[in-house]
Amino acid sequence: MARKIVLILVLTCLCIGLAAADWNILNPIWNINERQDSLKNYCESWRINVELNNIREFDVVPQECVAHIKKYMTSSQYDADCQRAIEEVTLYLSRCCSLKGDGKDAWIFDVDDTLISTIPYFKKHGFGGEKVNSSSLEAWMEESKAPALDHTFKLFHDIKDRGMKIFLVSSRKETLRSPTVDNLINVGYHGWSRLFLRGFEDEYMHVEQYKSQVRKTLMDQGYRIWGIVGDQWSSLKGLPEAKRTFKLPNSIYYMS
Ligand SMILES: *[C@@H]1O[C@H](CO)[C@@H](O)[C@H](O)[C@H]1NC(C)=O
Repeated sequence: MARKIVLILVLTCLCIGLAAADWNILNPIWNINERQDSLKNYCESWRINVELNNIREFDVVPQECVAHIKKYMTSSQYDADCQRAIEEVTLYLSRCCSLKGDGKDAWIFDVDDTLISTIPYFKKHGFGGEKVNSSSLEAWMEESKAPALDHTFKLFHDIKDRGMKIFLVSSRKETLRSPTVDNLINVGYHGWSRLFLRGFEDEYMHVEQYKSQVRKTLMDQGYRIWGIVGDQWSSLKGLPEAKRTFKLPNSIYYMS
């Protein structure tokens, strides 16, 4: 009888122990790979929902996902995703537009993280894990050292060669005009028709409203805007619309 009770007690303890092991996240016996997988899944779904514009207006990347976002934004996958987006633009261009050759066919590009990359800056400043410090970011922009994004670079020249006018619409401040132009020229961009930057009065507007207003100005002047390439939803949404929009990935920051 006593032996039976001891046996039951031992088994009970073992069962409680096993059950405990199952829900104690800090227990090293618990499957470590599974834990890493679920964090990876969580961060990847955070990232994809940013791209889908389901997650909006975030100030910082969730702390537990900073490493994941950094890994993605500096990976060959990011490069392949940008390449694919640009290939889709080329496909669209091959059949979309019956260009009139009257100088009114137009295309719009964003500047940051579309034509040139801010990744070198964010590598040194928390990679989205810290709230963007605009004075330090602008100081970096003044150095005109942002590298070109290769796939967009080729597309830019392709579109220019097709005879479209290129308009650059950026949320950078007007005060950054000269370093921005220098930067673009240094890495090989030239021949755009106009660079729109945010004047003092535009800073009170949301980026989406400001960029929509620029499109309205262009359309009022008779331009047909065949498409936009940008990394922010605020560059693509709003009225009047371009005929098509193409989004490049960016889960480091959100411009609203
Ligand atoms: C932003 O960066 C500047 C340096 O460019 C620094 O002096 C300032 O303290 C920073 N602000 C915050 C809130 O971190």
